[in-house]
Amino acid sequence: MNDILQGINVYLVGMMGSGKTTVGQELARHLGYRFFDTDTLIERVAEKTVSEIFATEGEVNFRQLEHQVLCELAAYQHSVIATGGGIVIRTENWSYLRCGLVVWLDAPVETLFDRLRGDSTRPLLDDRDPLAKLEAILAARRSKYEQADLHVLFQDGESPAQIAQRIFNDIPTVLKSRV
Ligand code: S3P
Repeated sequence: MNDILQGINVYLVGMMGSGKTTVGQELARHLGYRFFDTDTLIERVAEKTVSEIFATEGEVNFRQLEHQVLCELAAYQHSVIATGGGIVIRTENWSYLRCGLVVWLDAPVETLFDRLRGDSTRPLLDDRDPLAKLEAILAARRSKYEQADLHVLFQDGESPAQIAQRIFNDIPTVLKSRV
């Protein structure tokens, strides 16, 4: 196990399609950490998909479940946690995120849109103009994502493994600036 983080969790935040899950799995391997995905845990707790939760219980209830799952995960250490894109919205979620290292995976909206084209698992993109919707969501959240400790901007052609390696290399610099 790599002890550079001394067990503190790494939270990956960012828009839908930014690669939090795939990059997170790679990063967990580098760090010798466990990997969790908040959406997967929410679906397990609710016994419904994210889309079903939005459709039957609404976004407010989804956000409540998301908050509860985050609260439970925060009790763990040595974990990389891929969060849902909207976790940054609720101020109280930051009291948990702040206890770990927060990494913002950022990619141009056009890249996100290409990756999410034809995806039916993101209820917020079930819209007549999903590209405009993505742009509006990012504009509303950008200032929250900017509160992350580390900003990782996707570079053309970079694989999830390469992004994870870059995060791993940058972690010591961020730890210094947190002291
Ligand atoms: C959401 C992002 C999704 C999921 C839900 C809401 C958002 O997760 O939590 O559809 O508000 O941006 P991903 O970021 O993993 O796609």
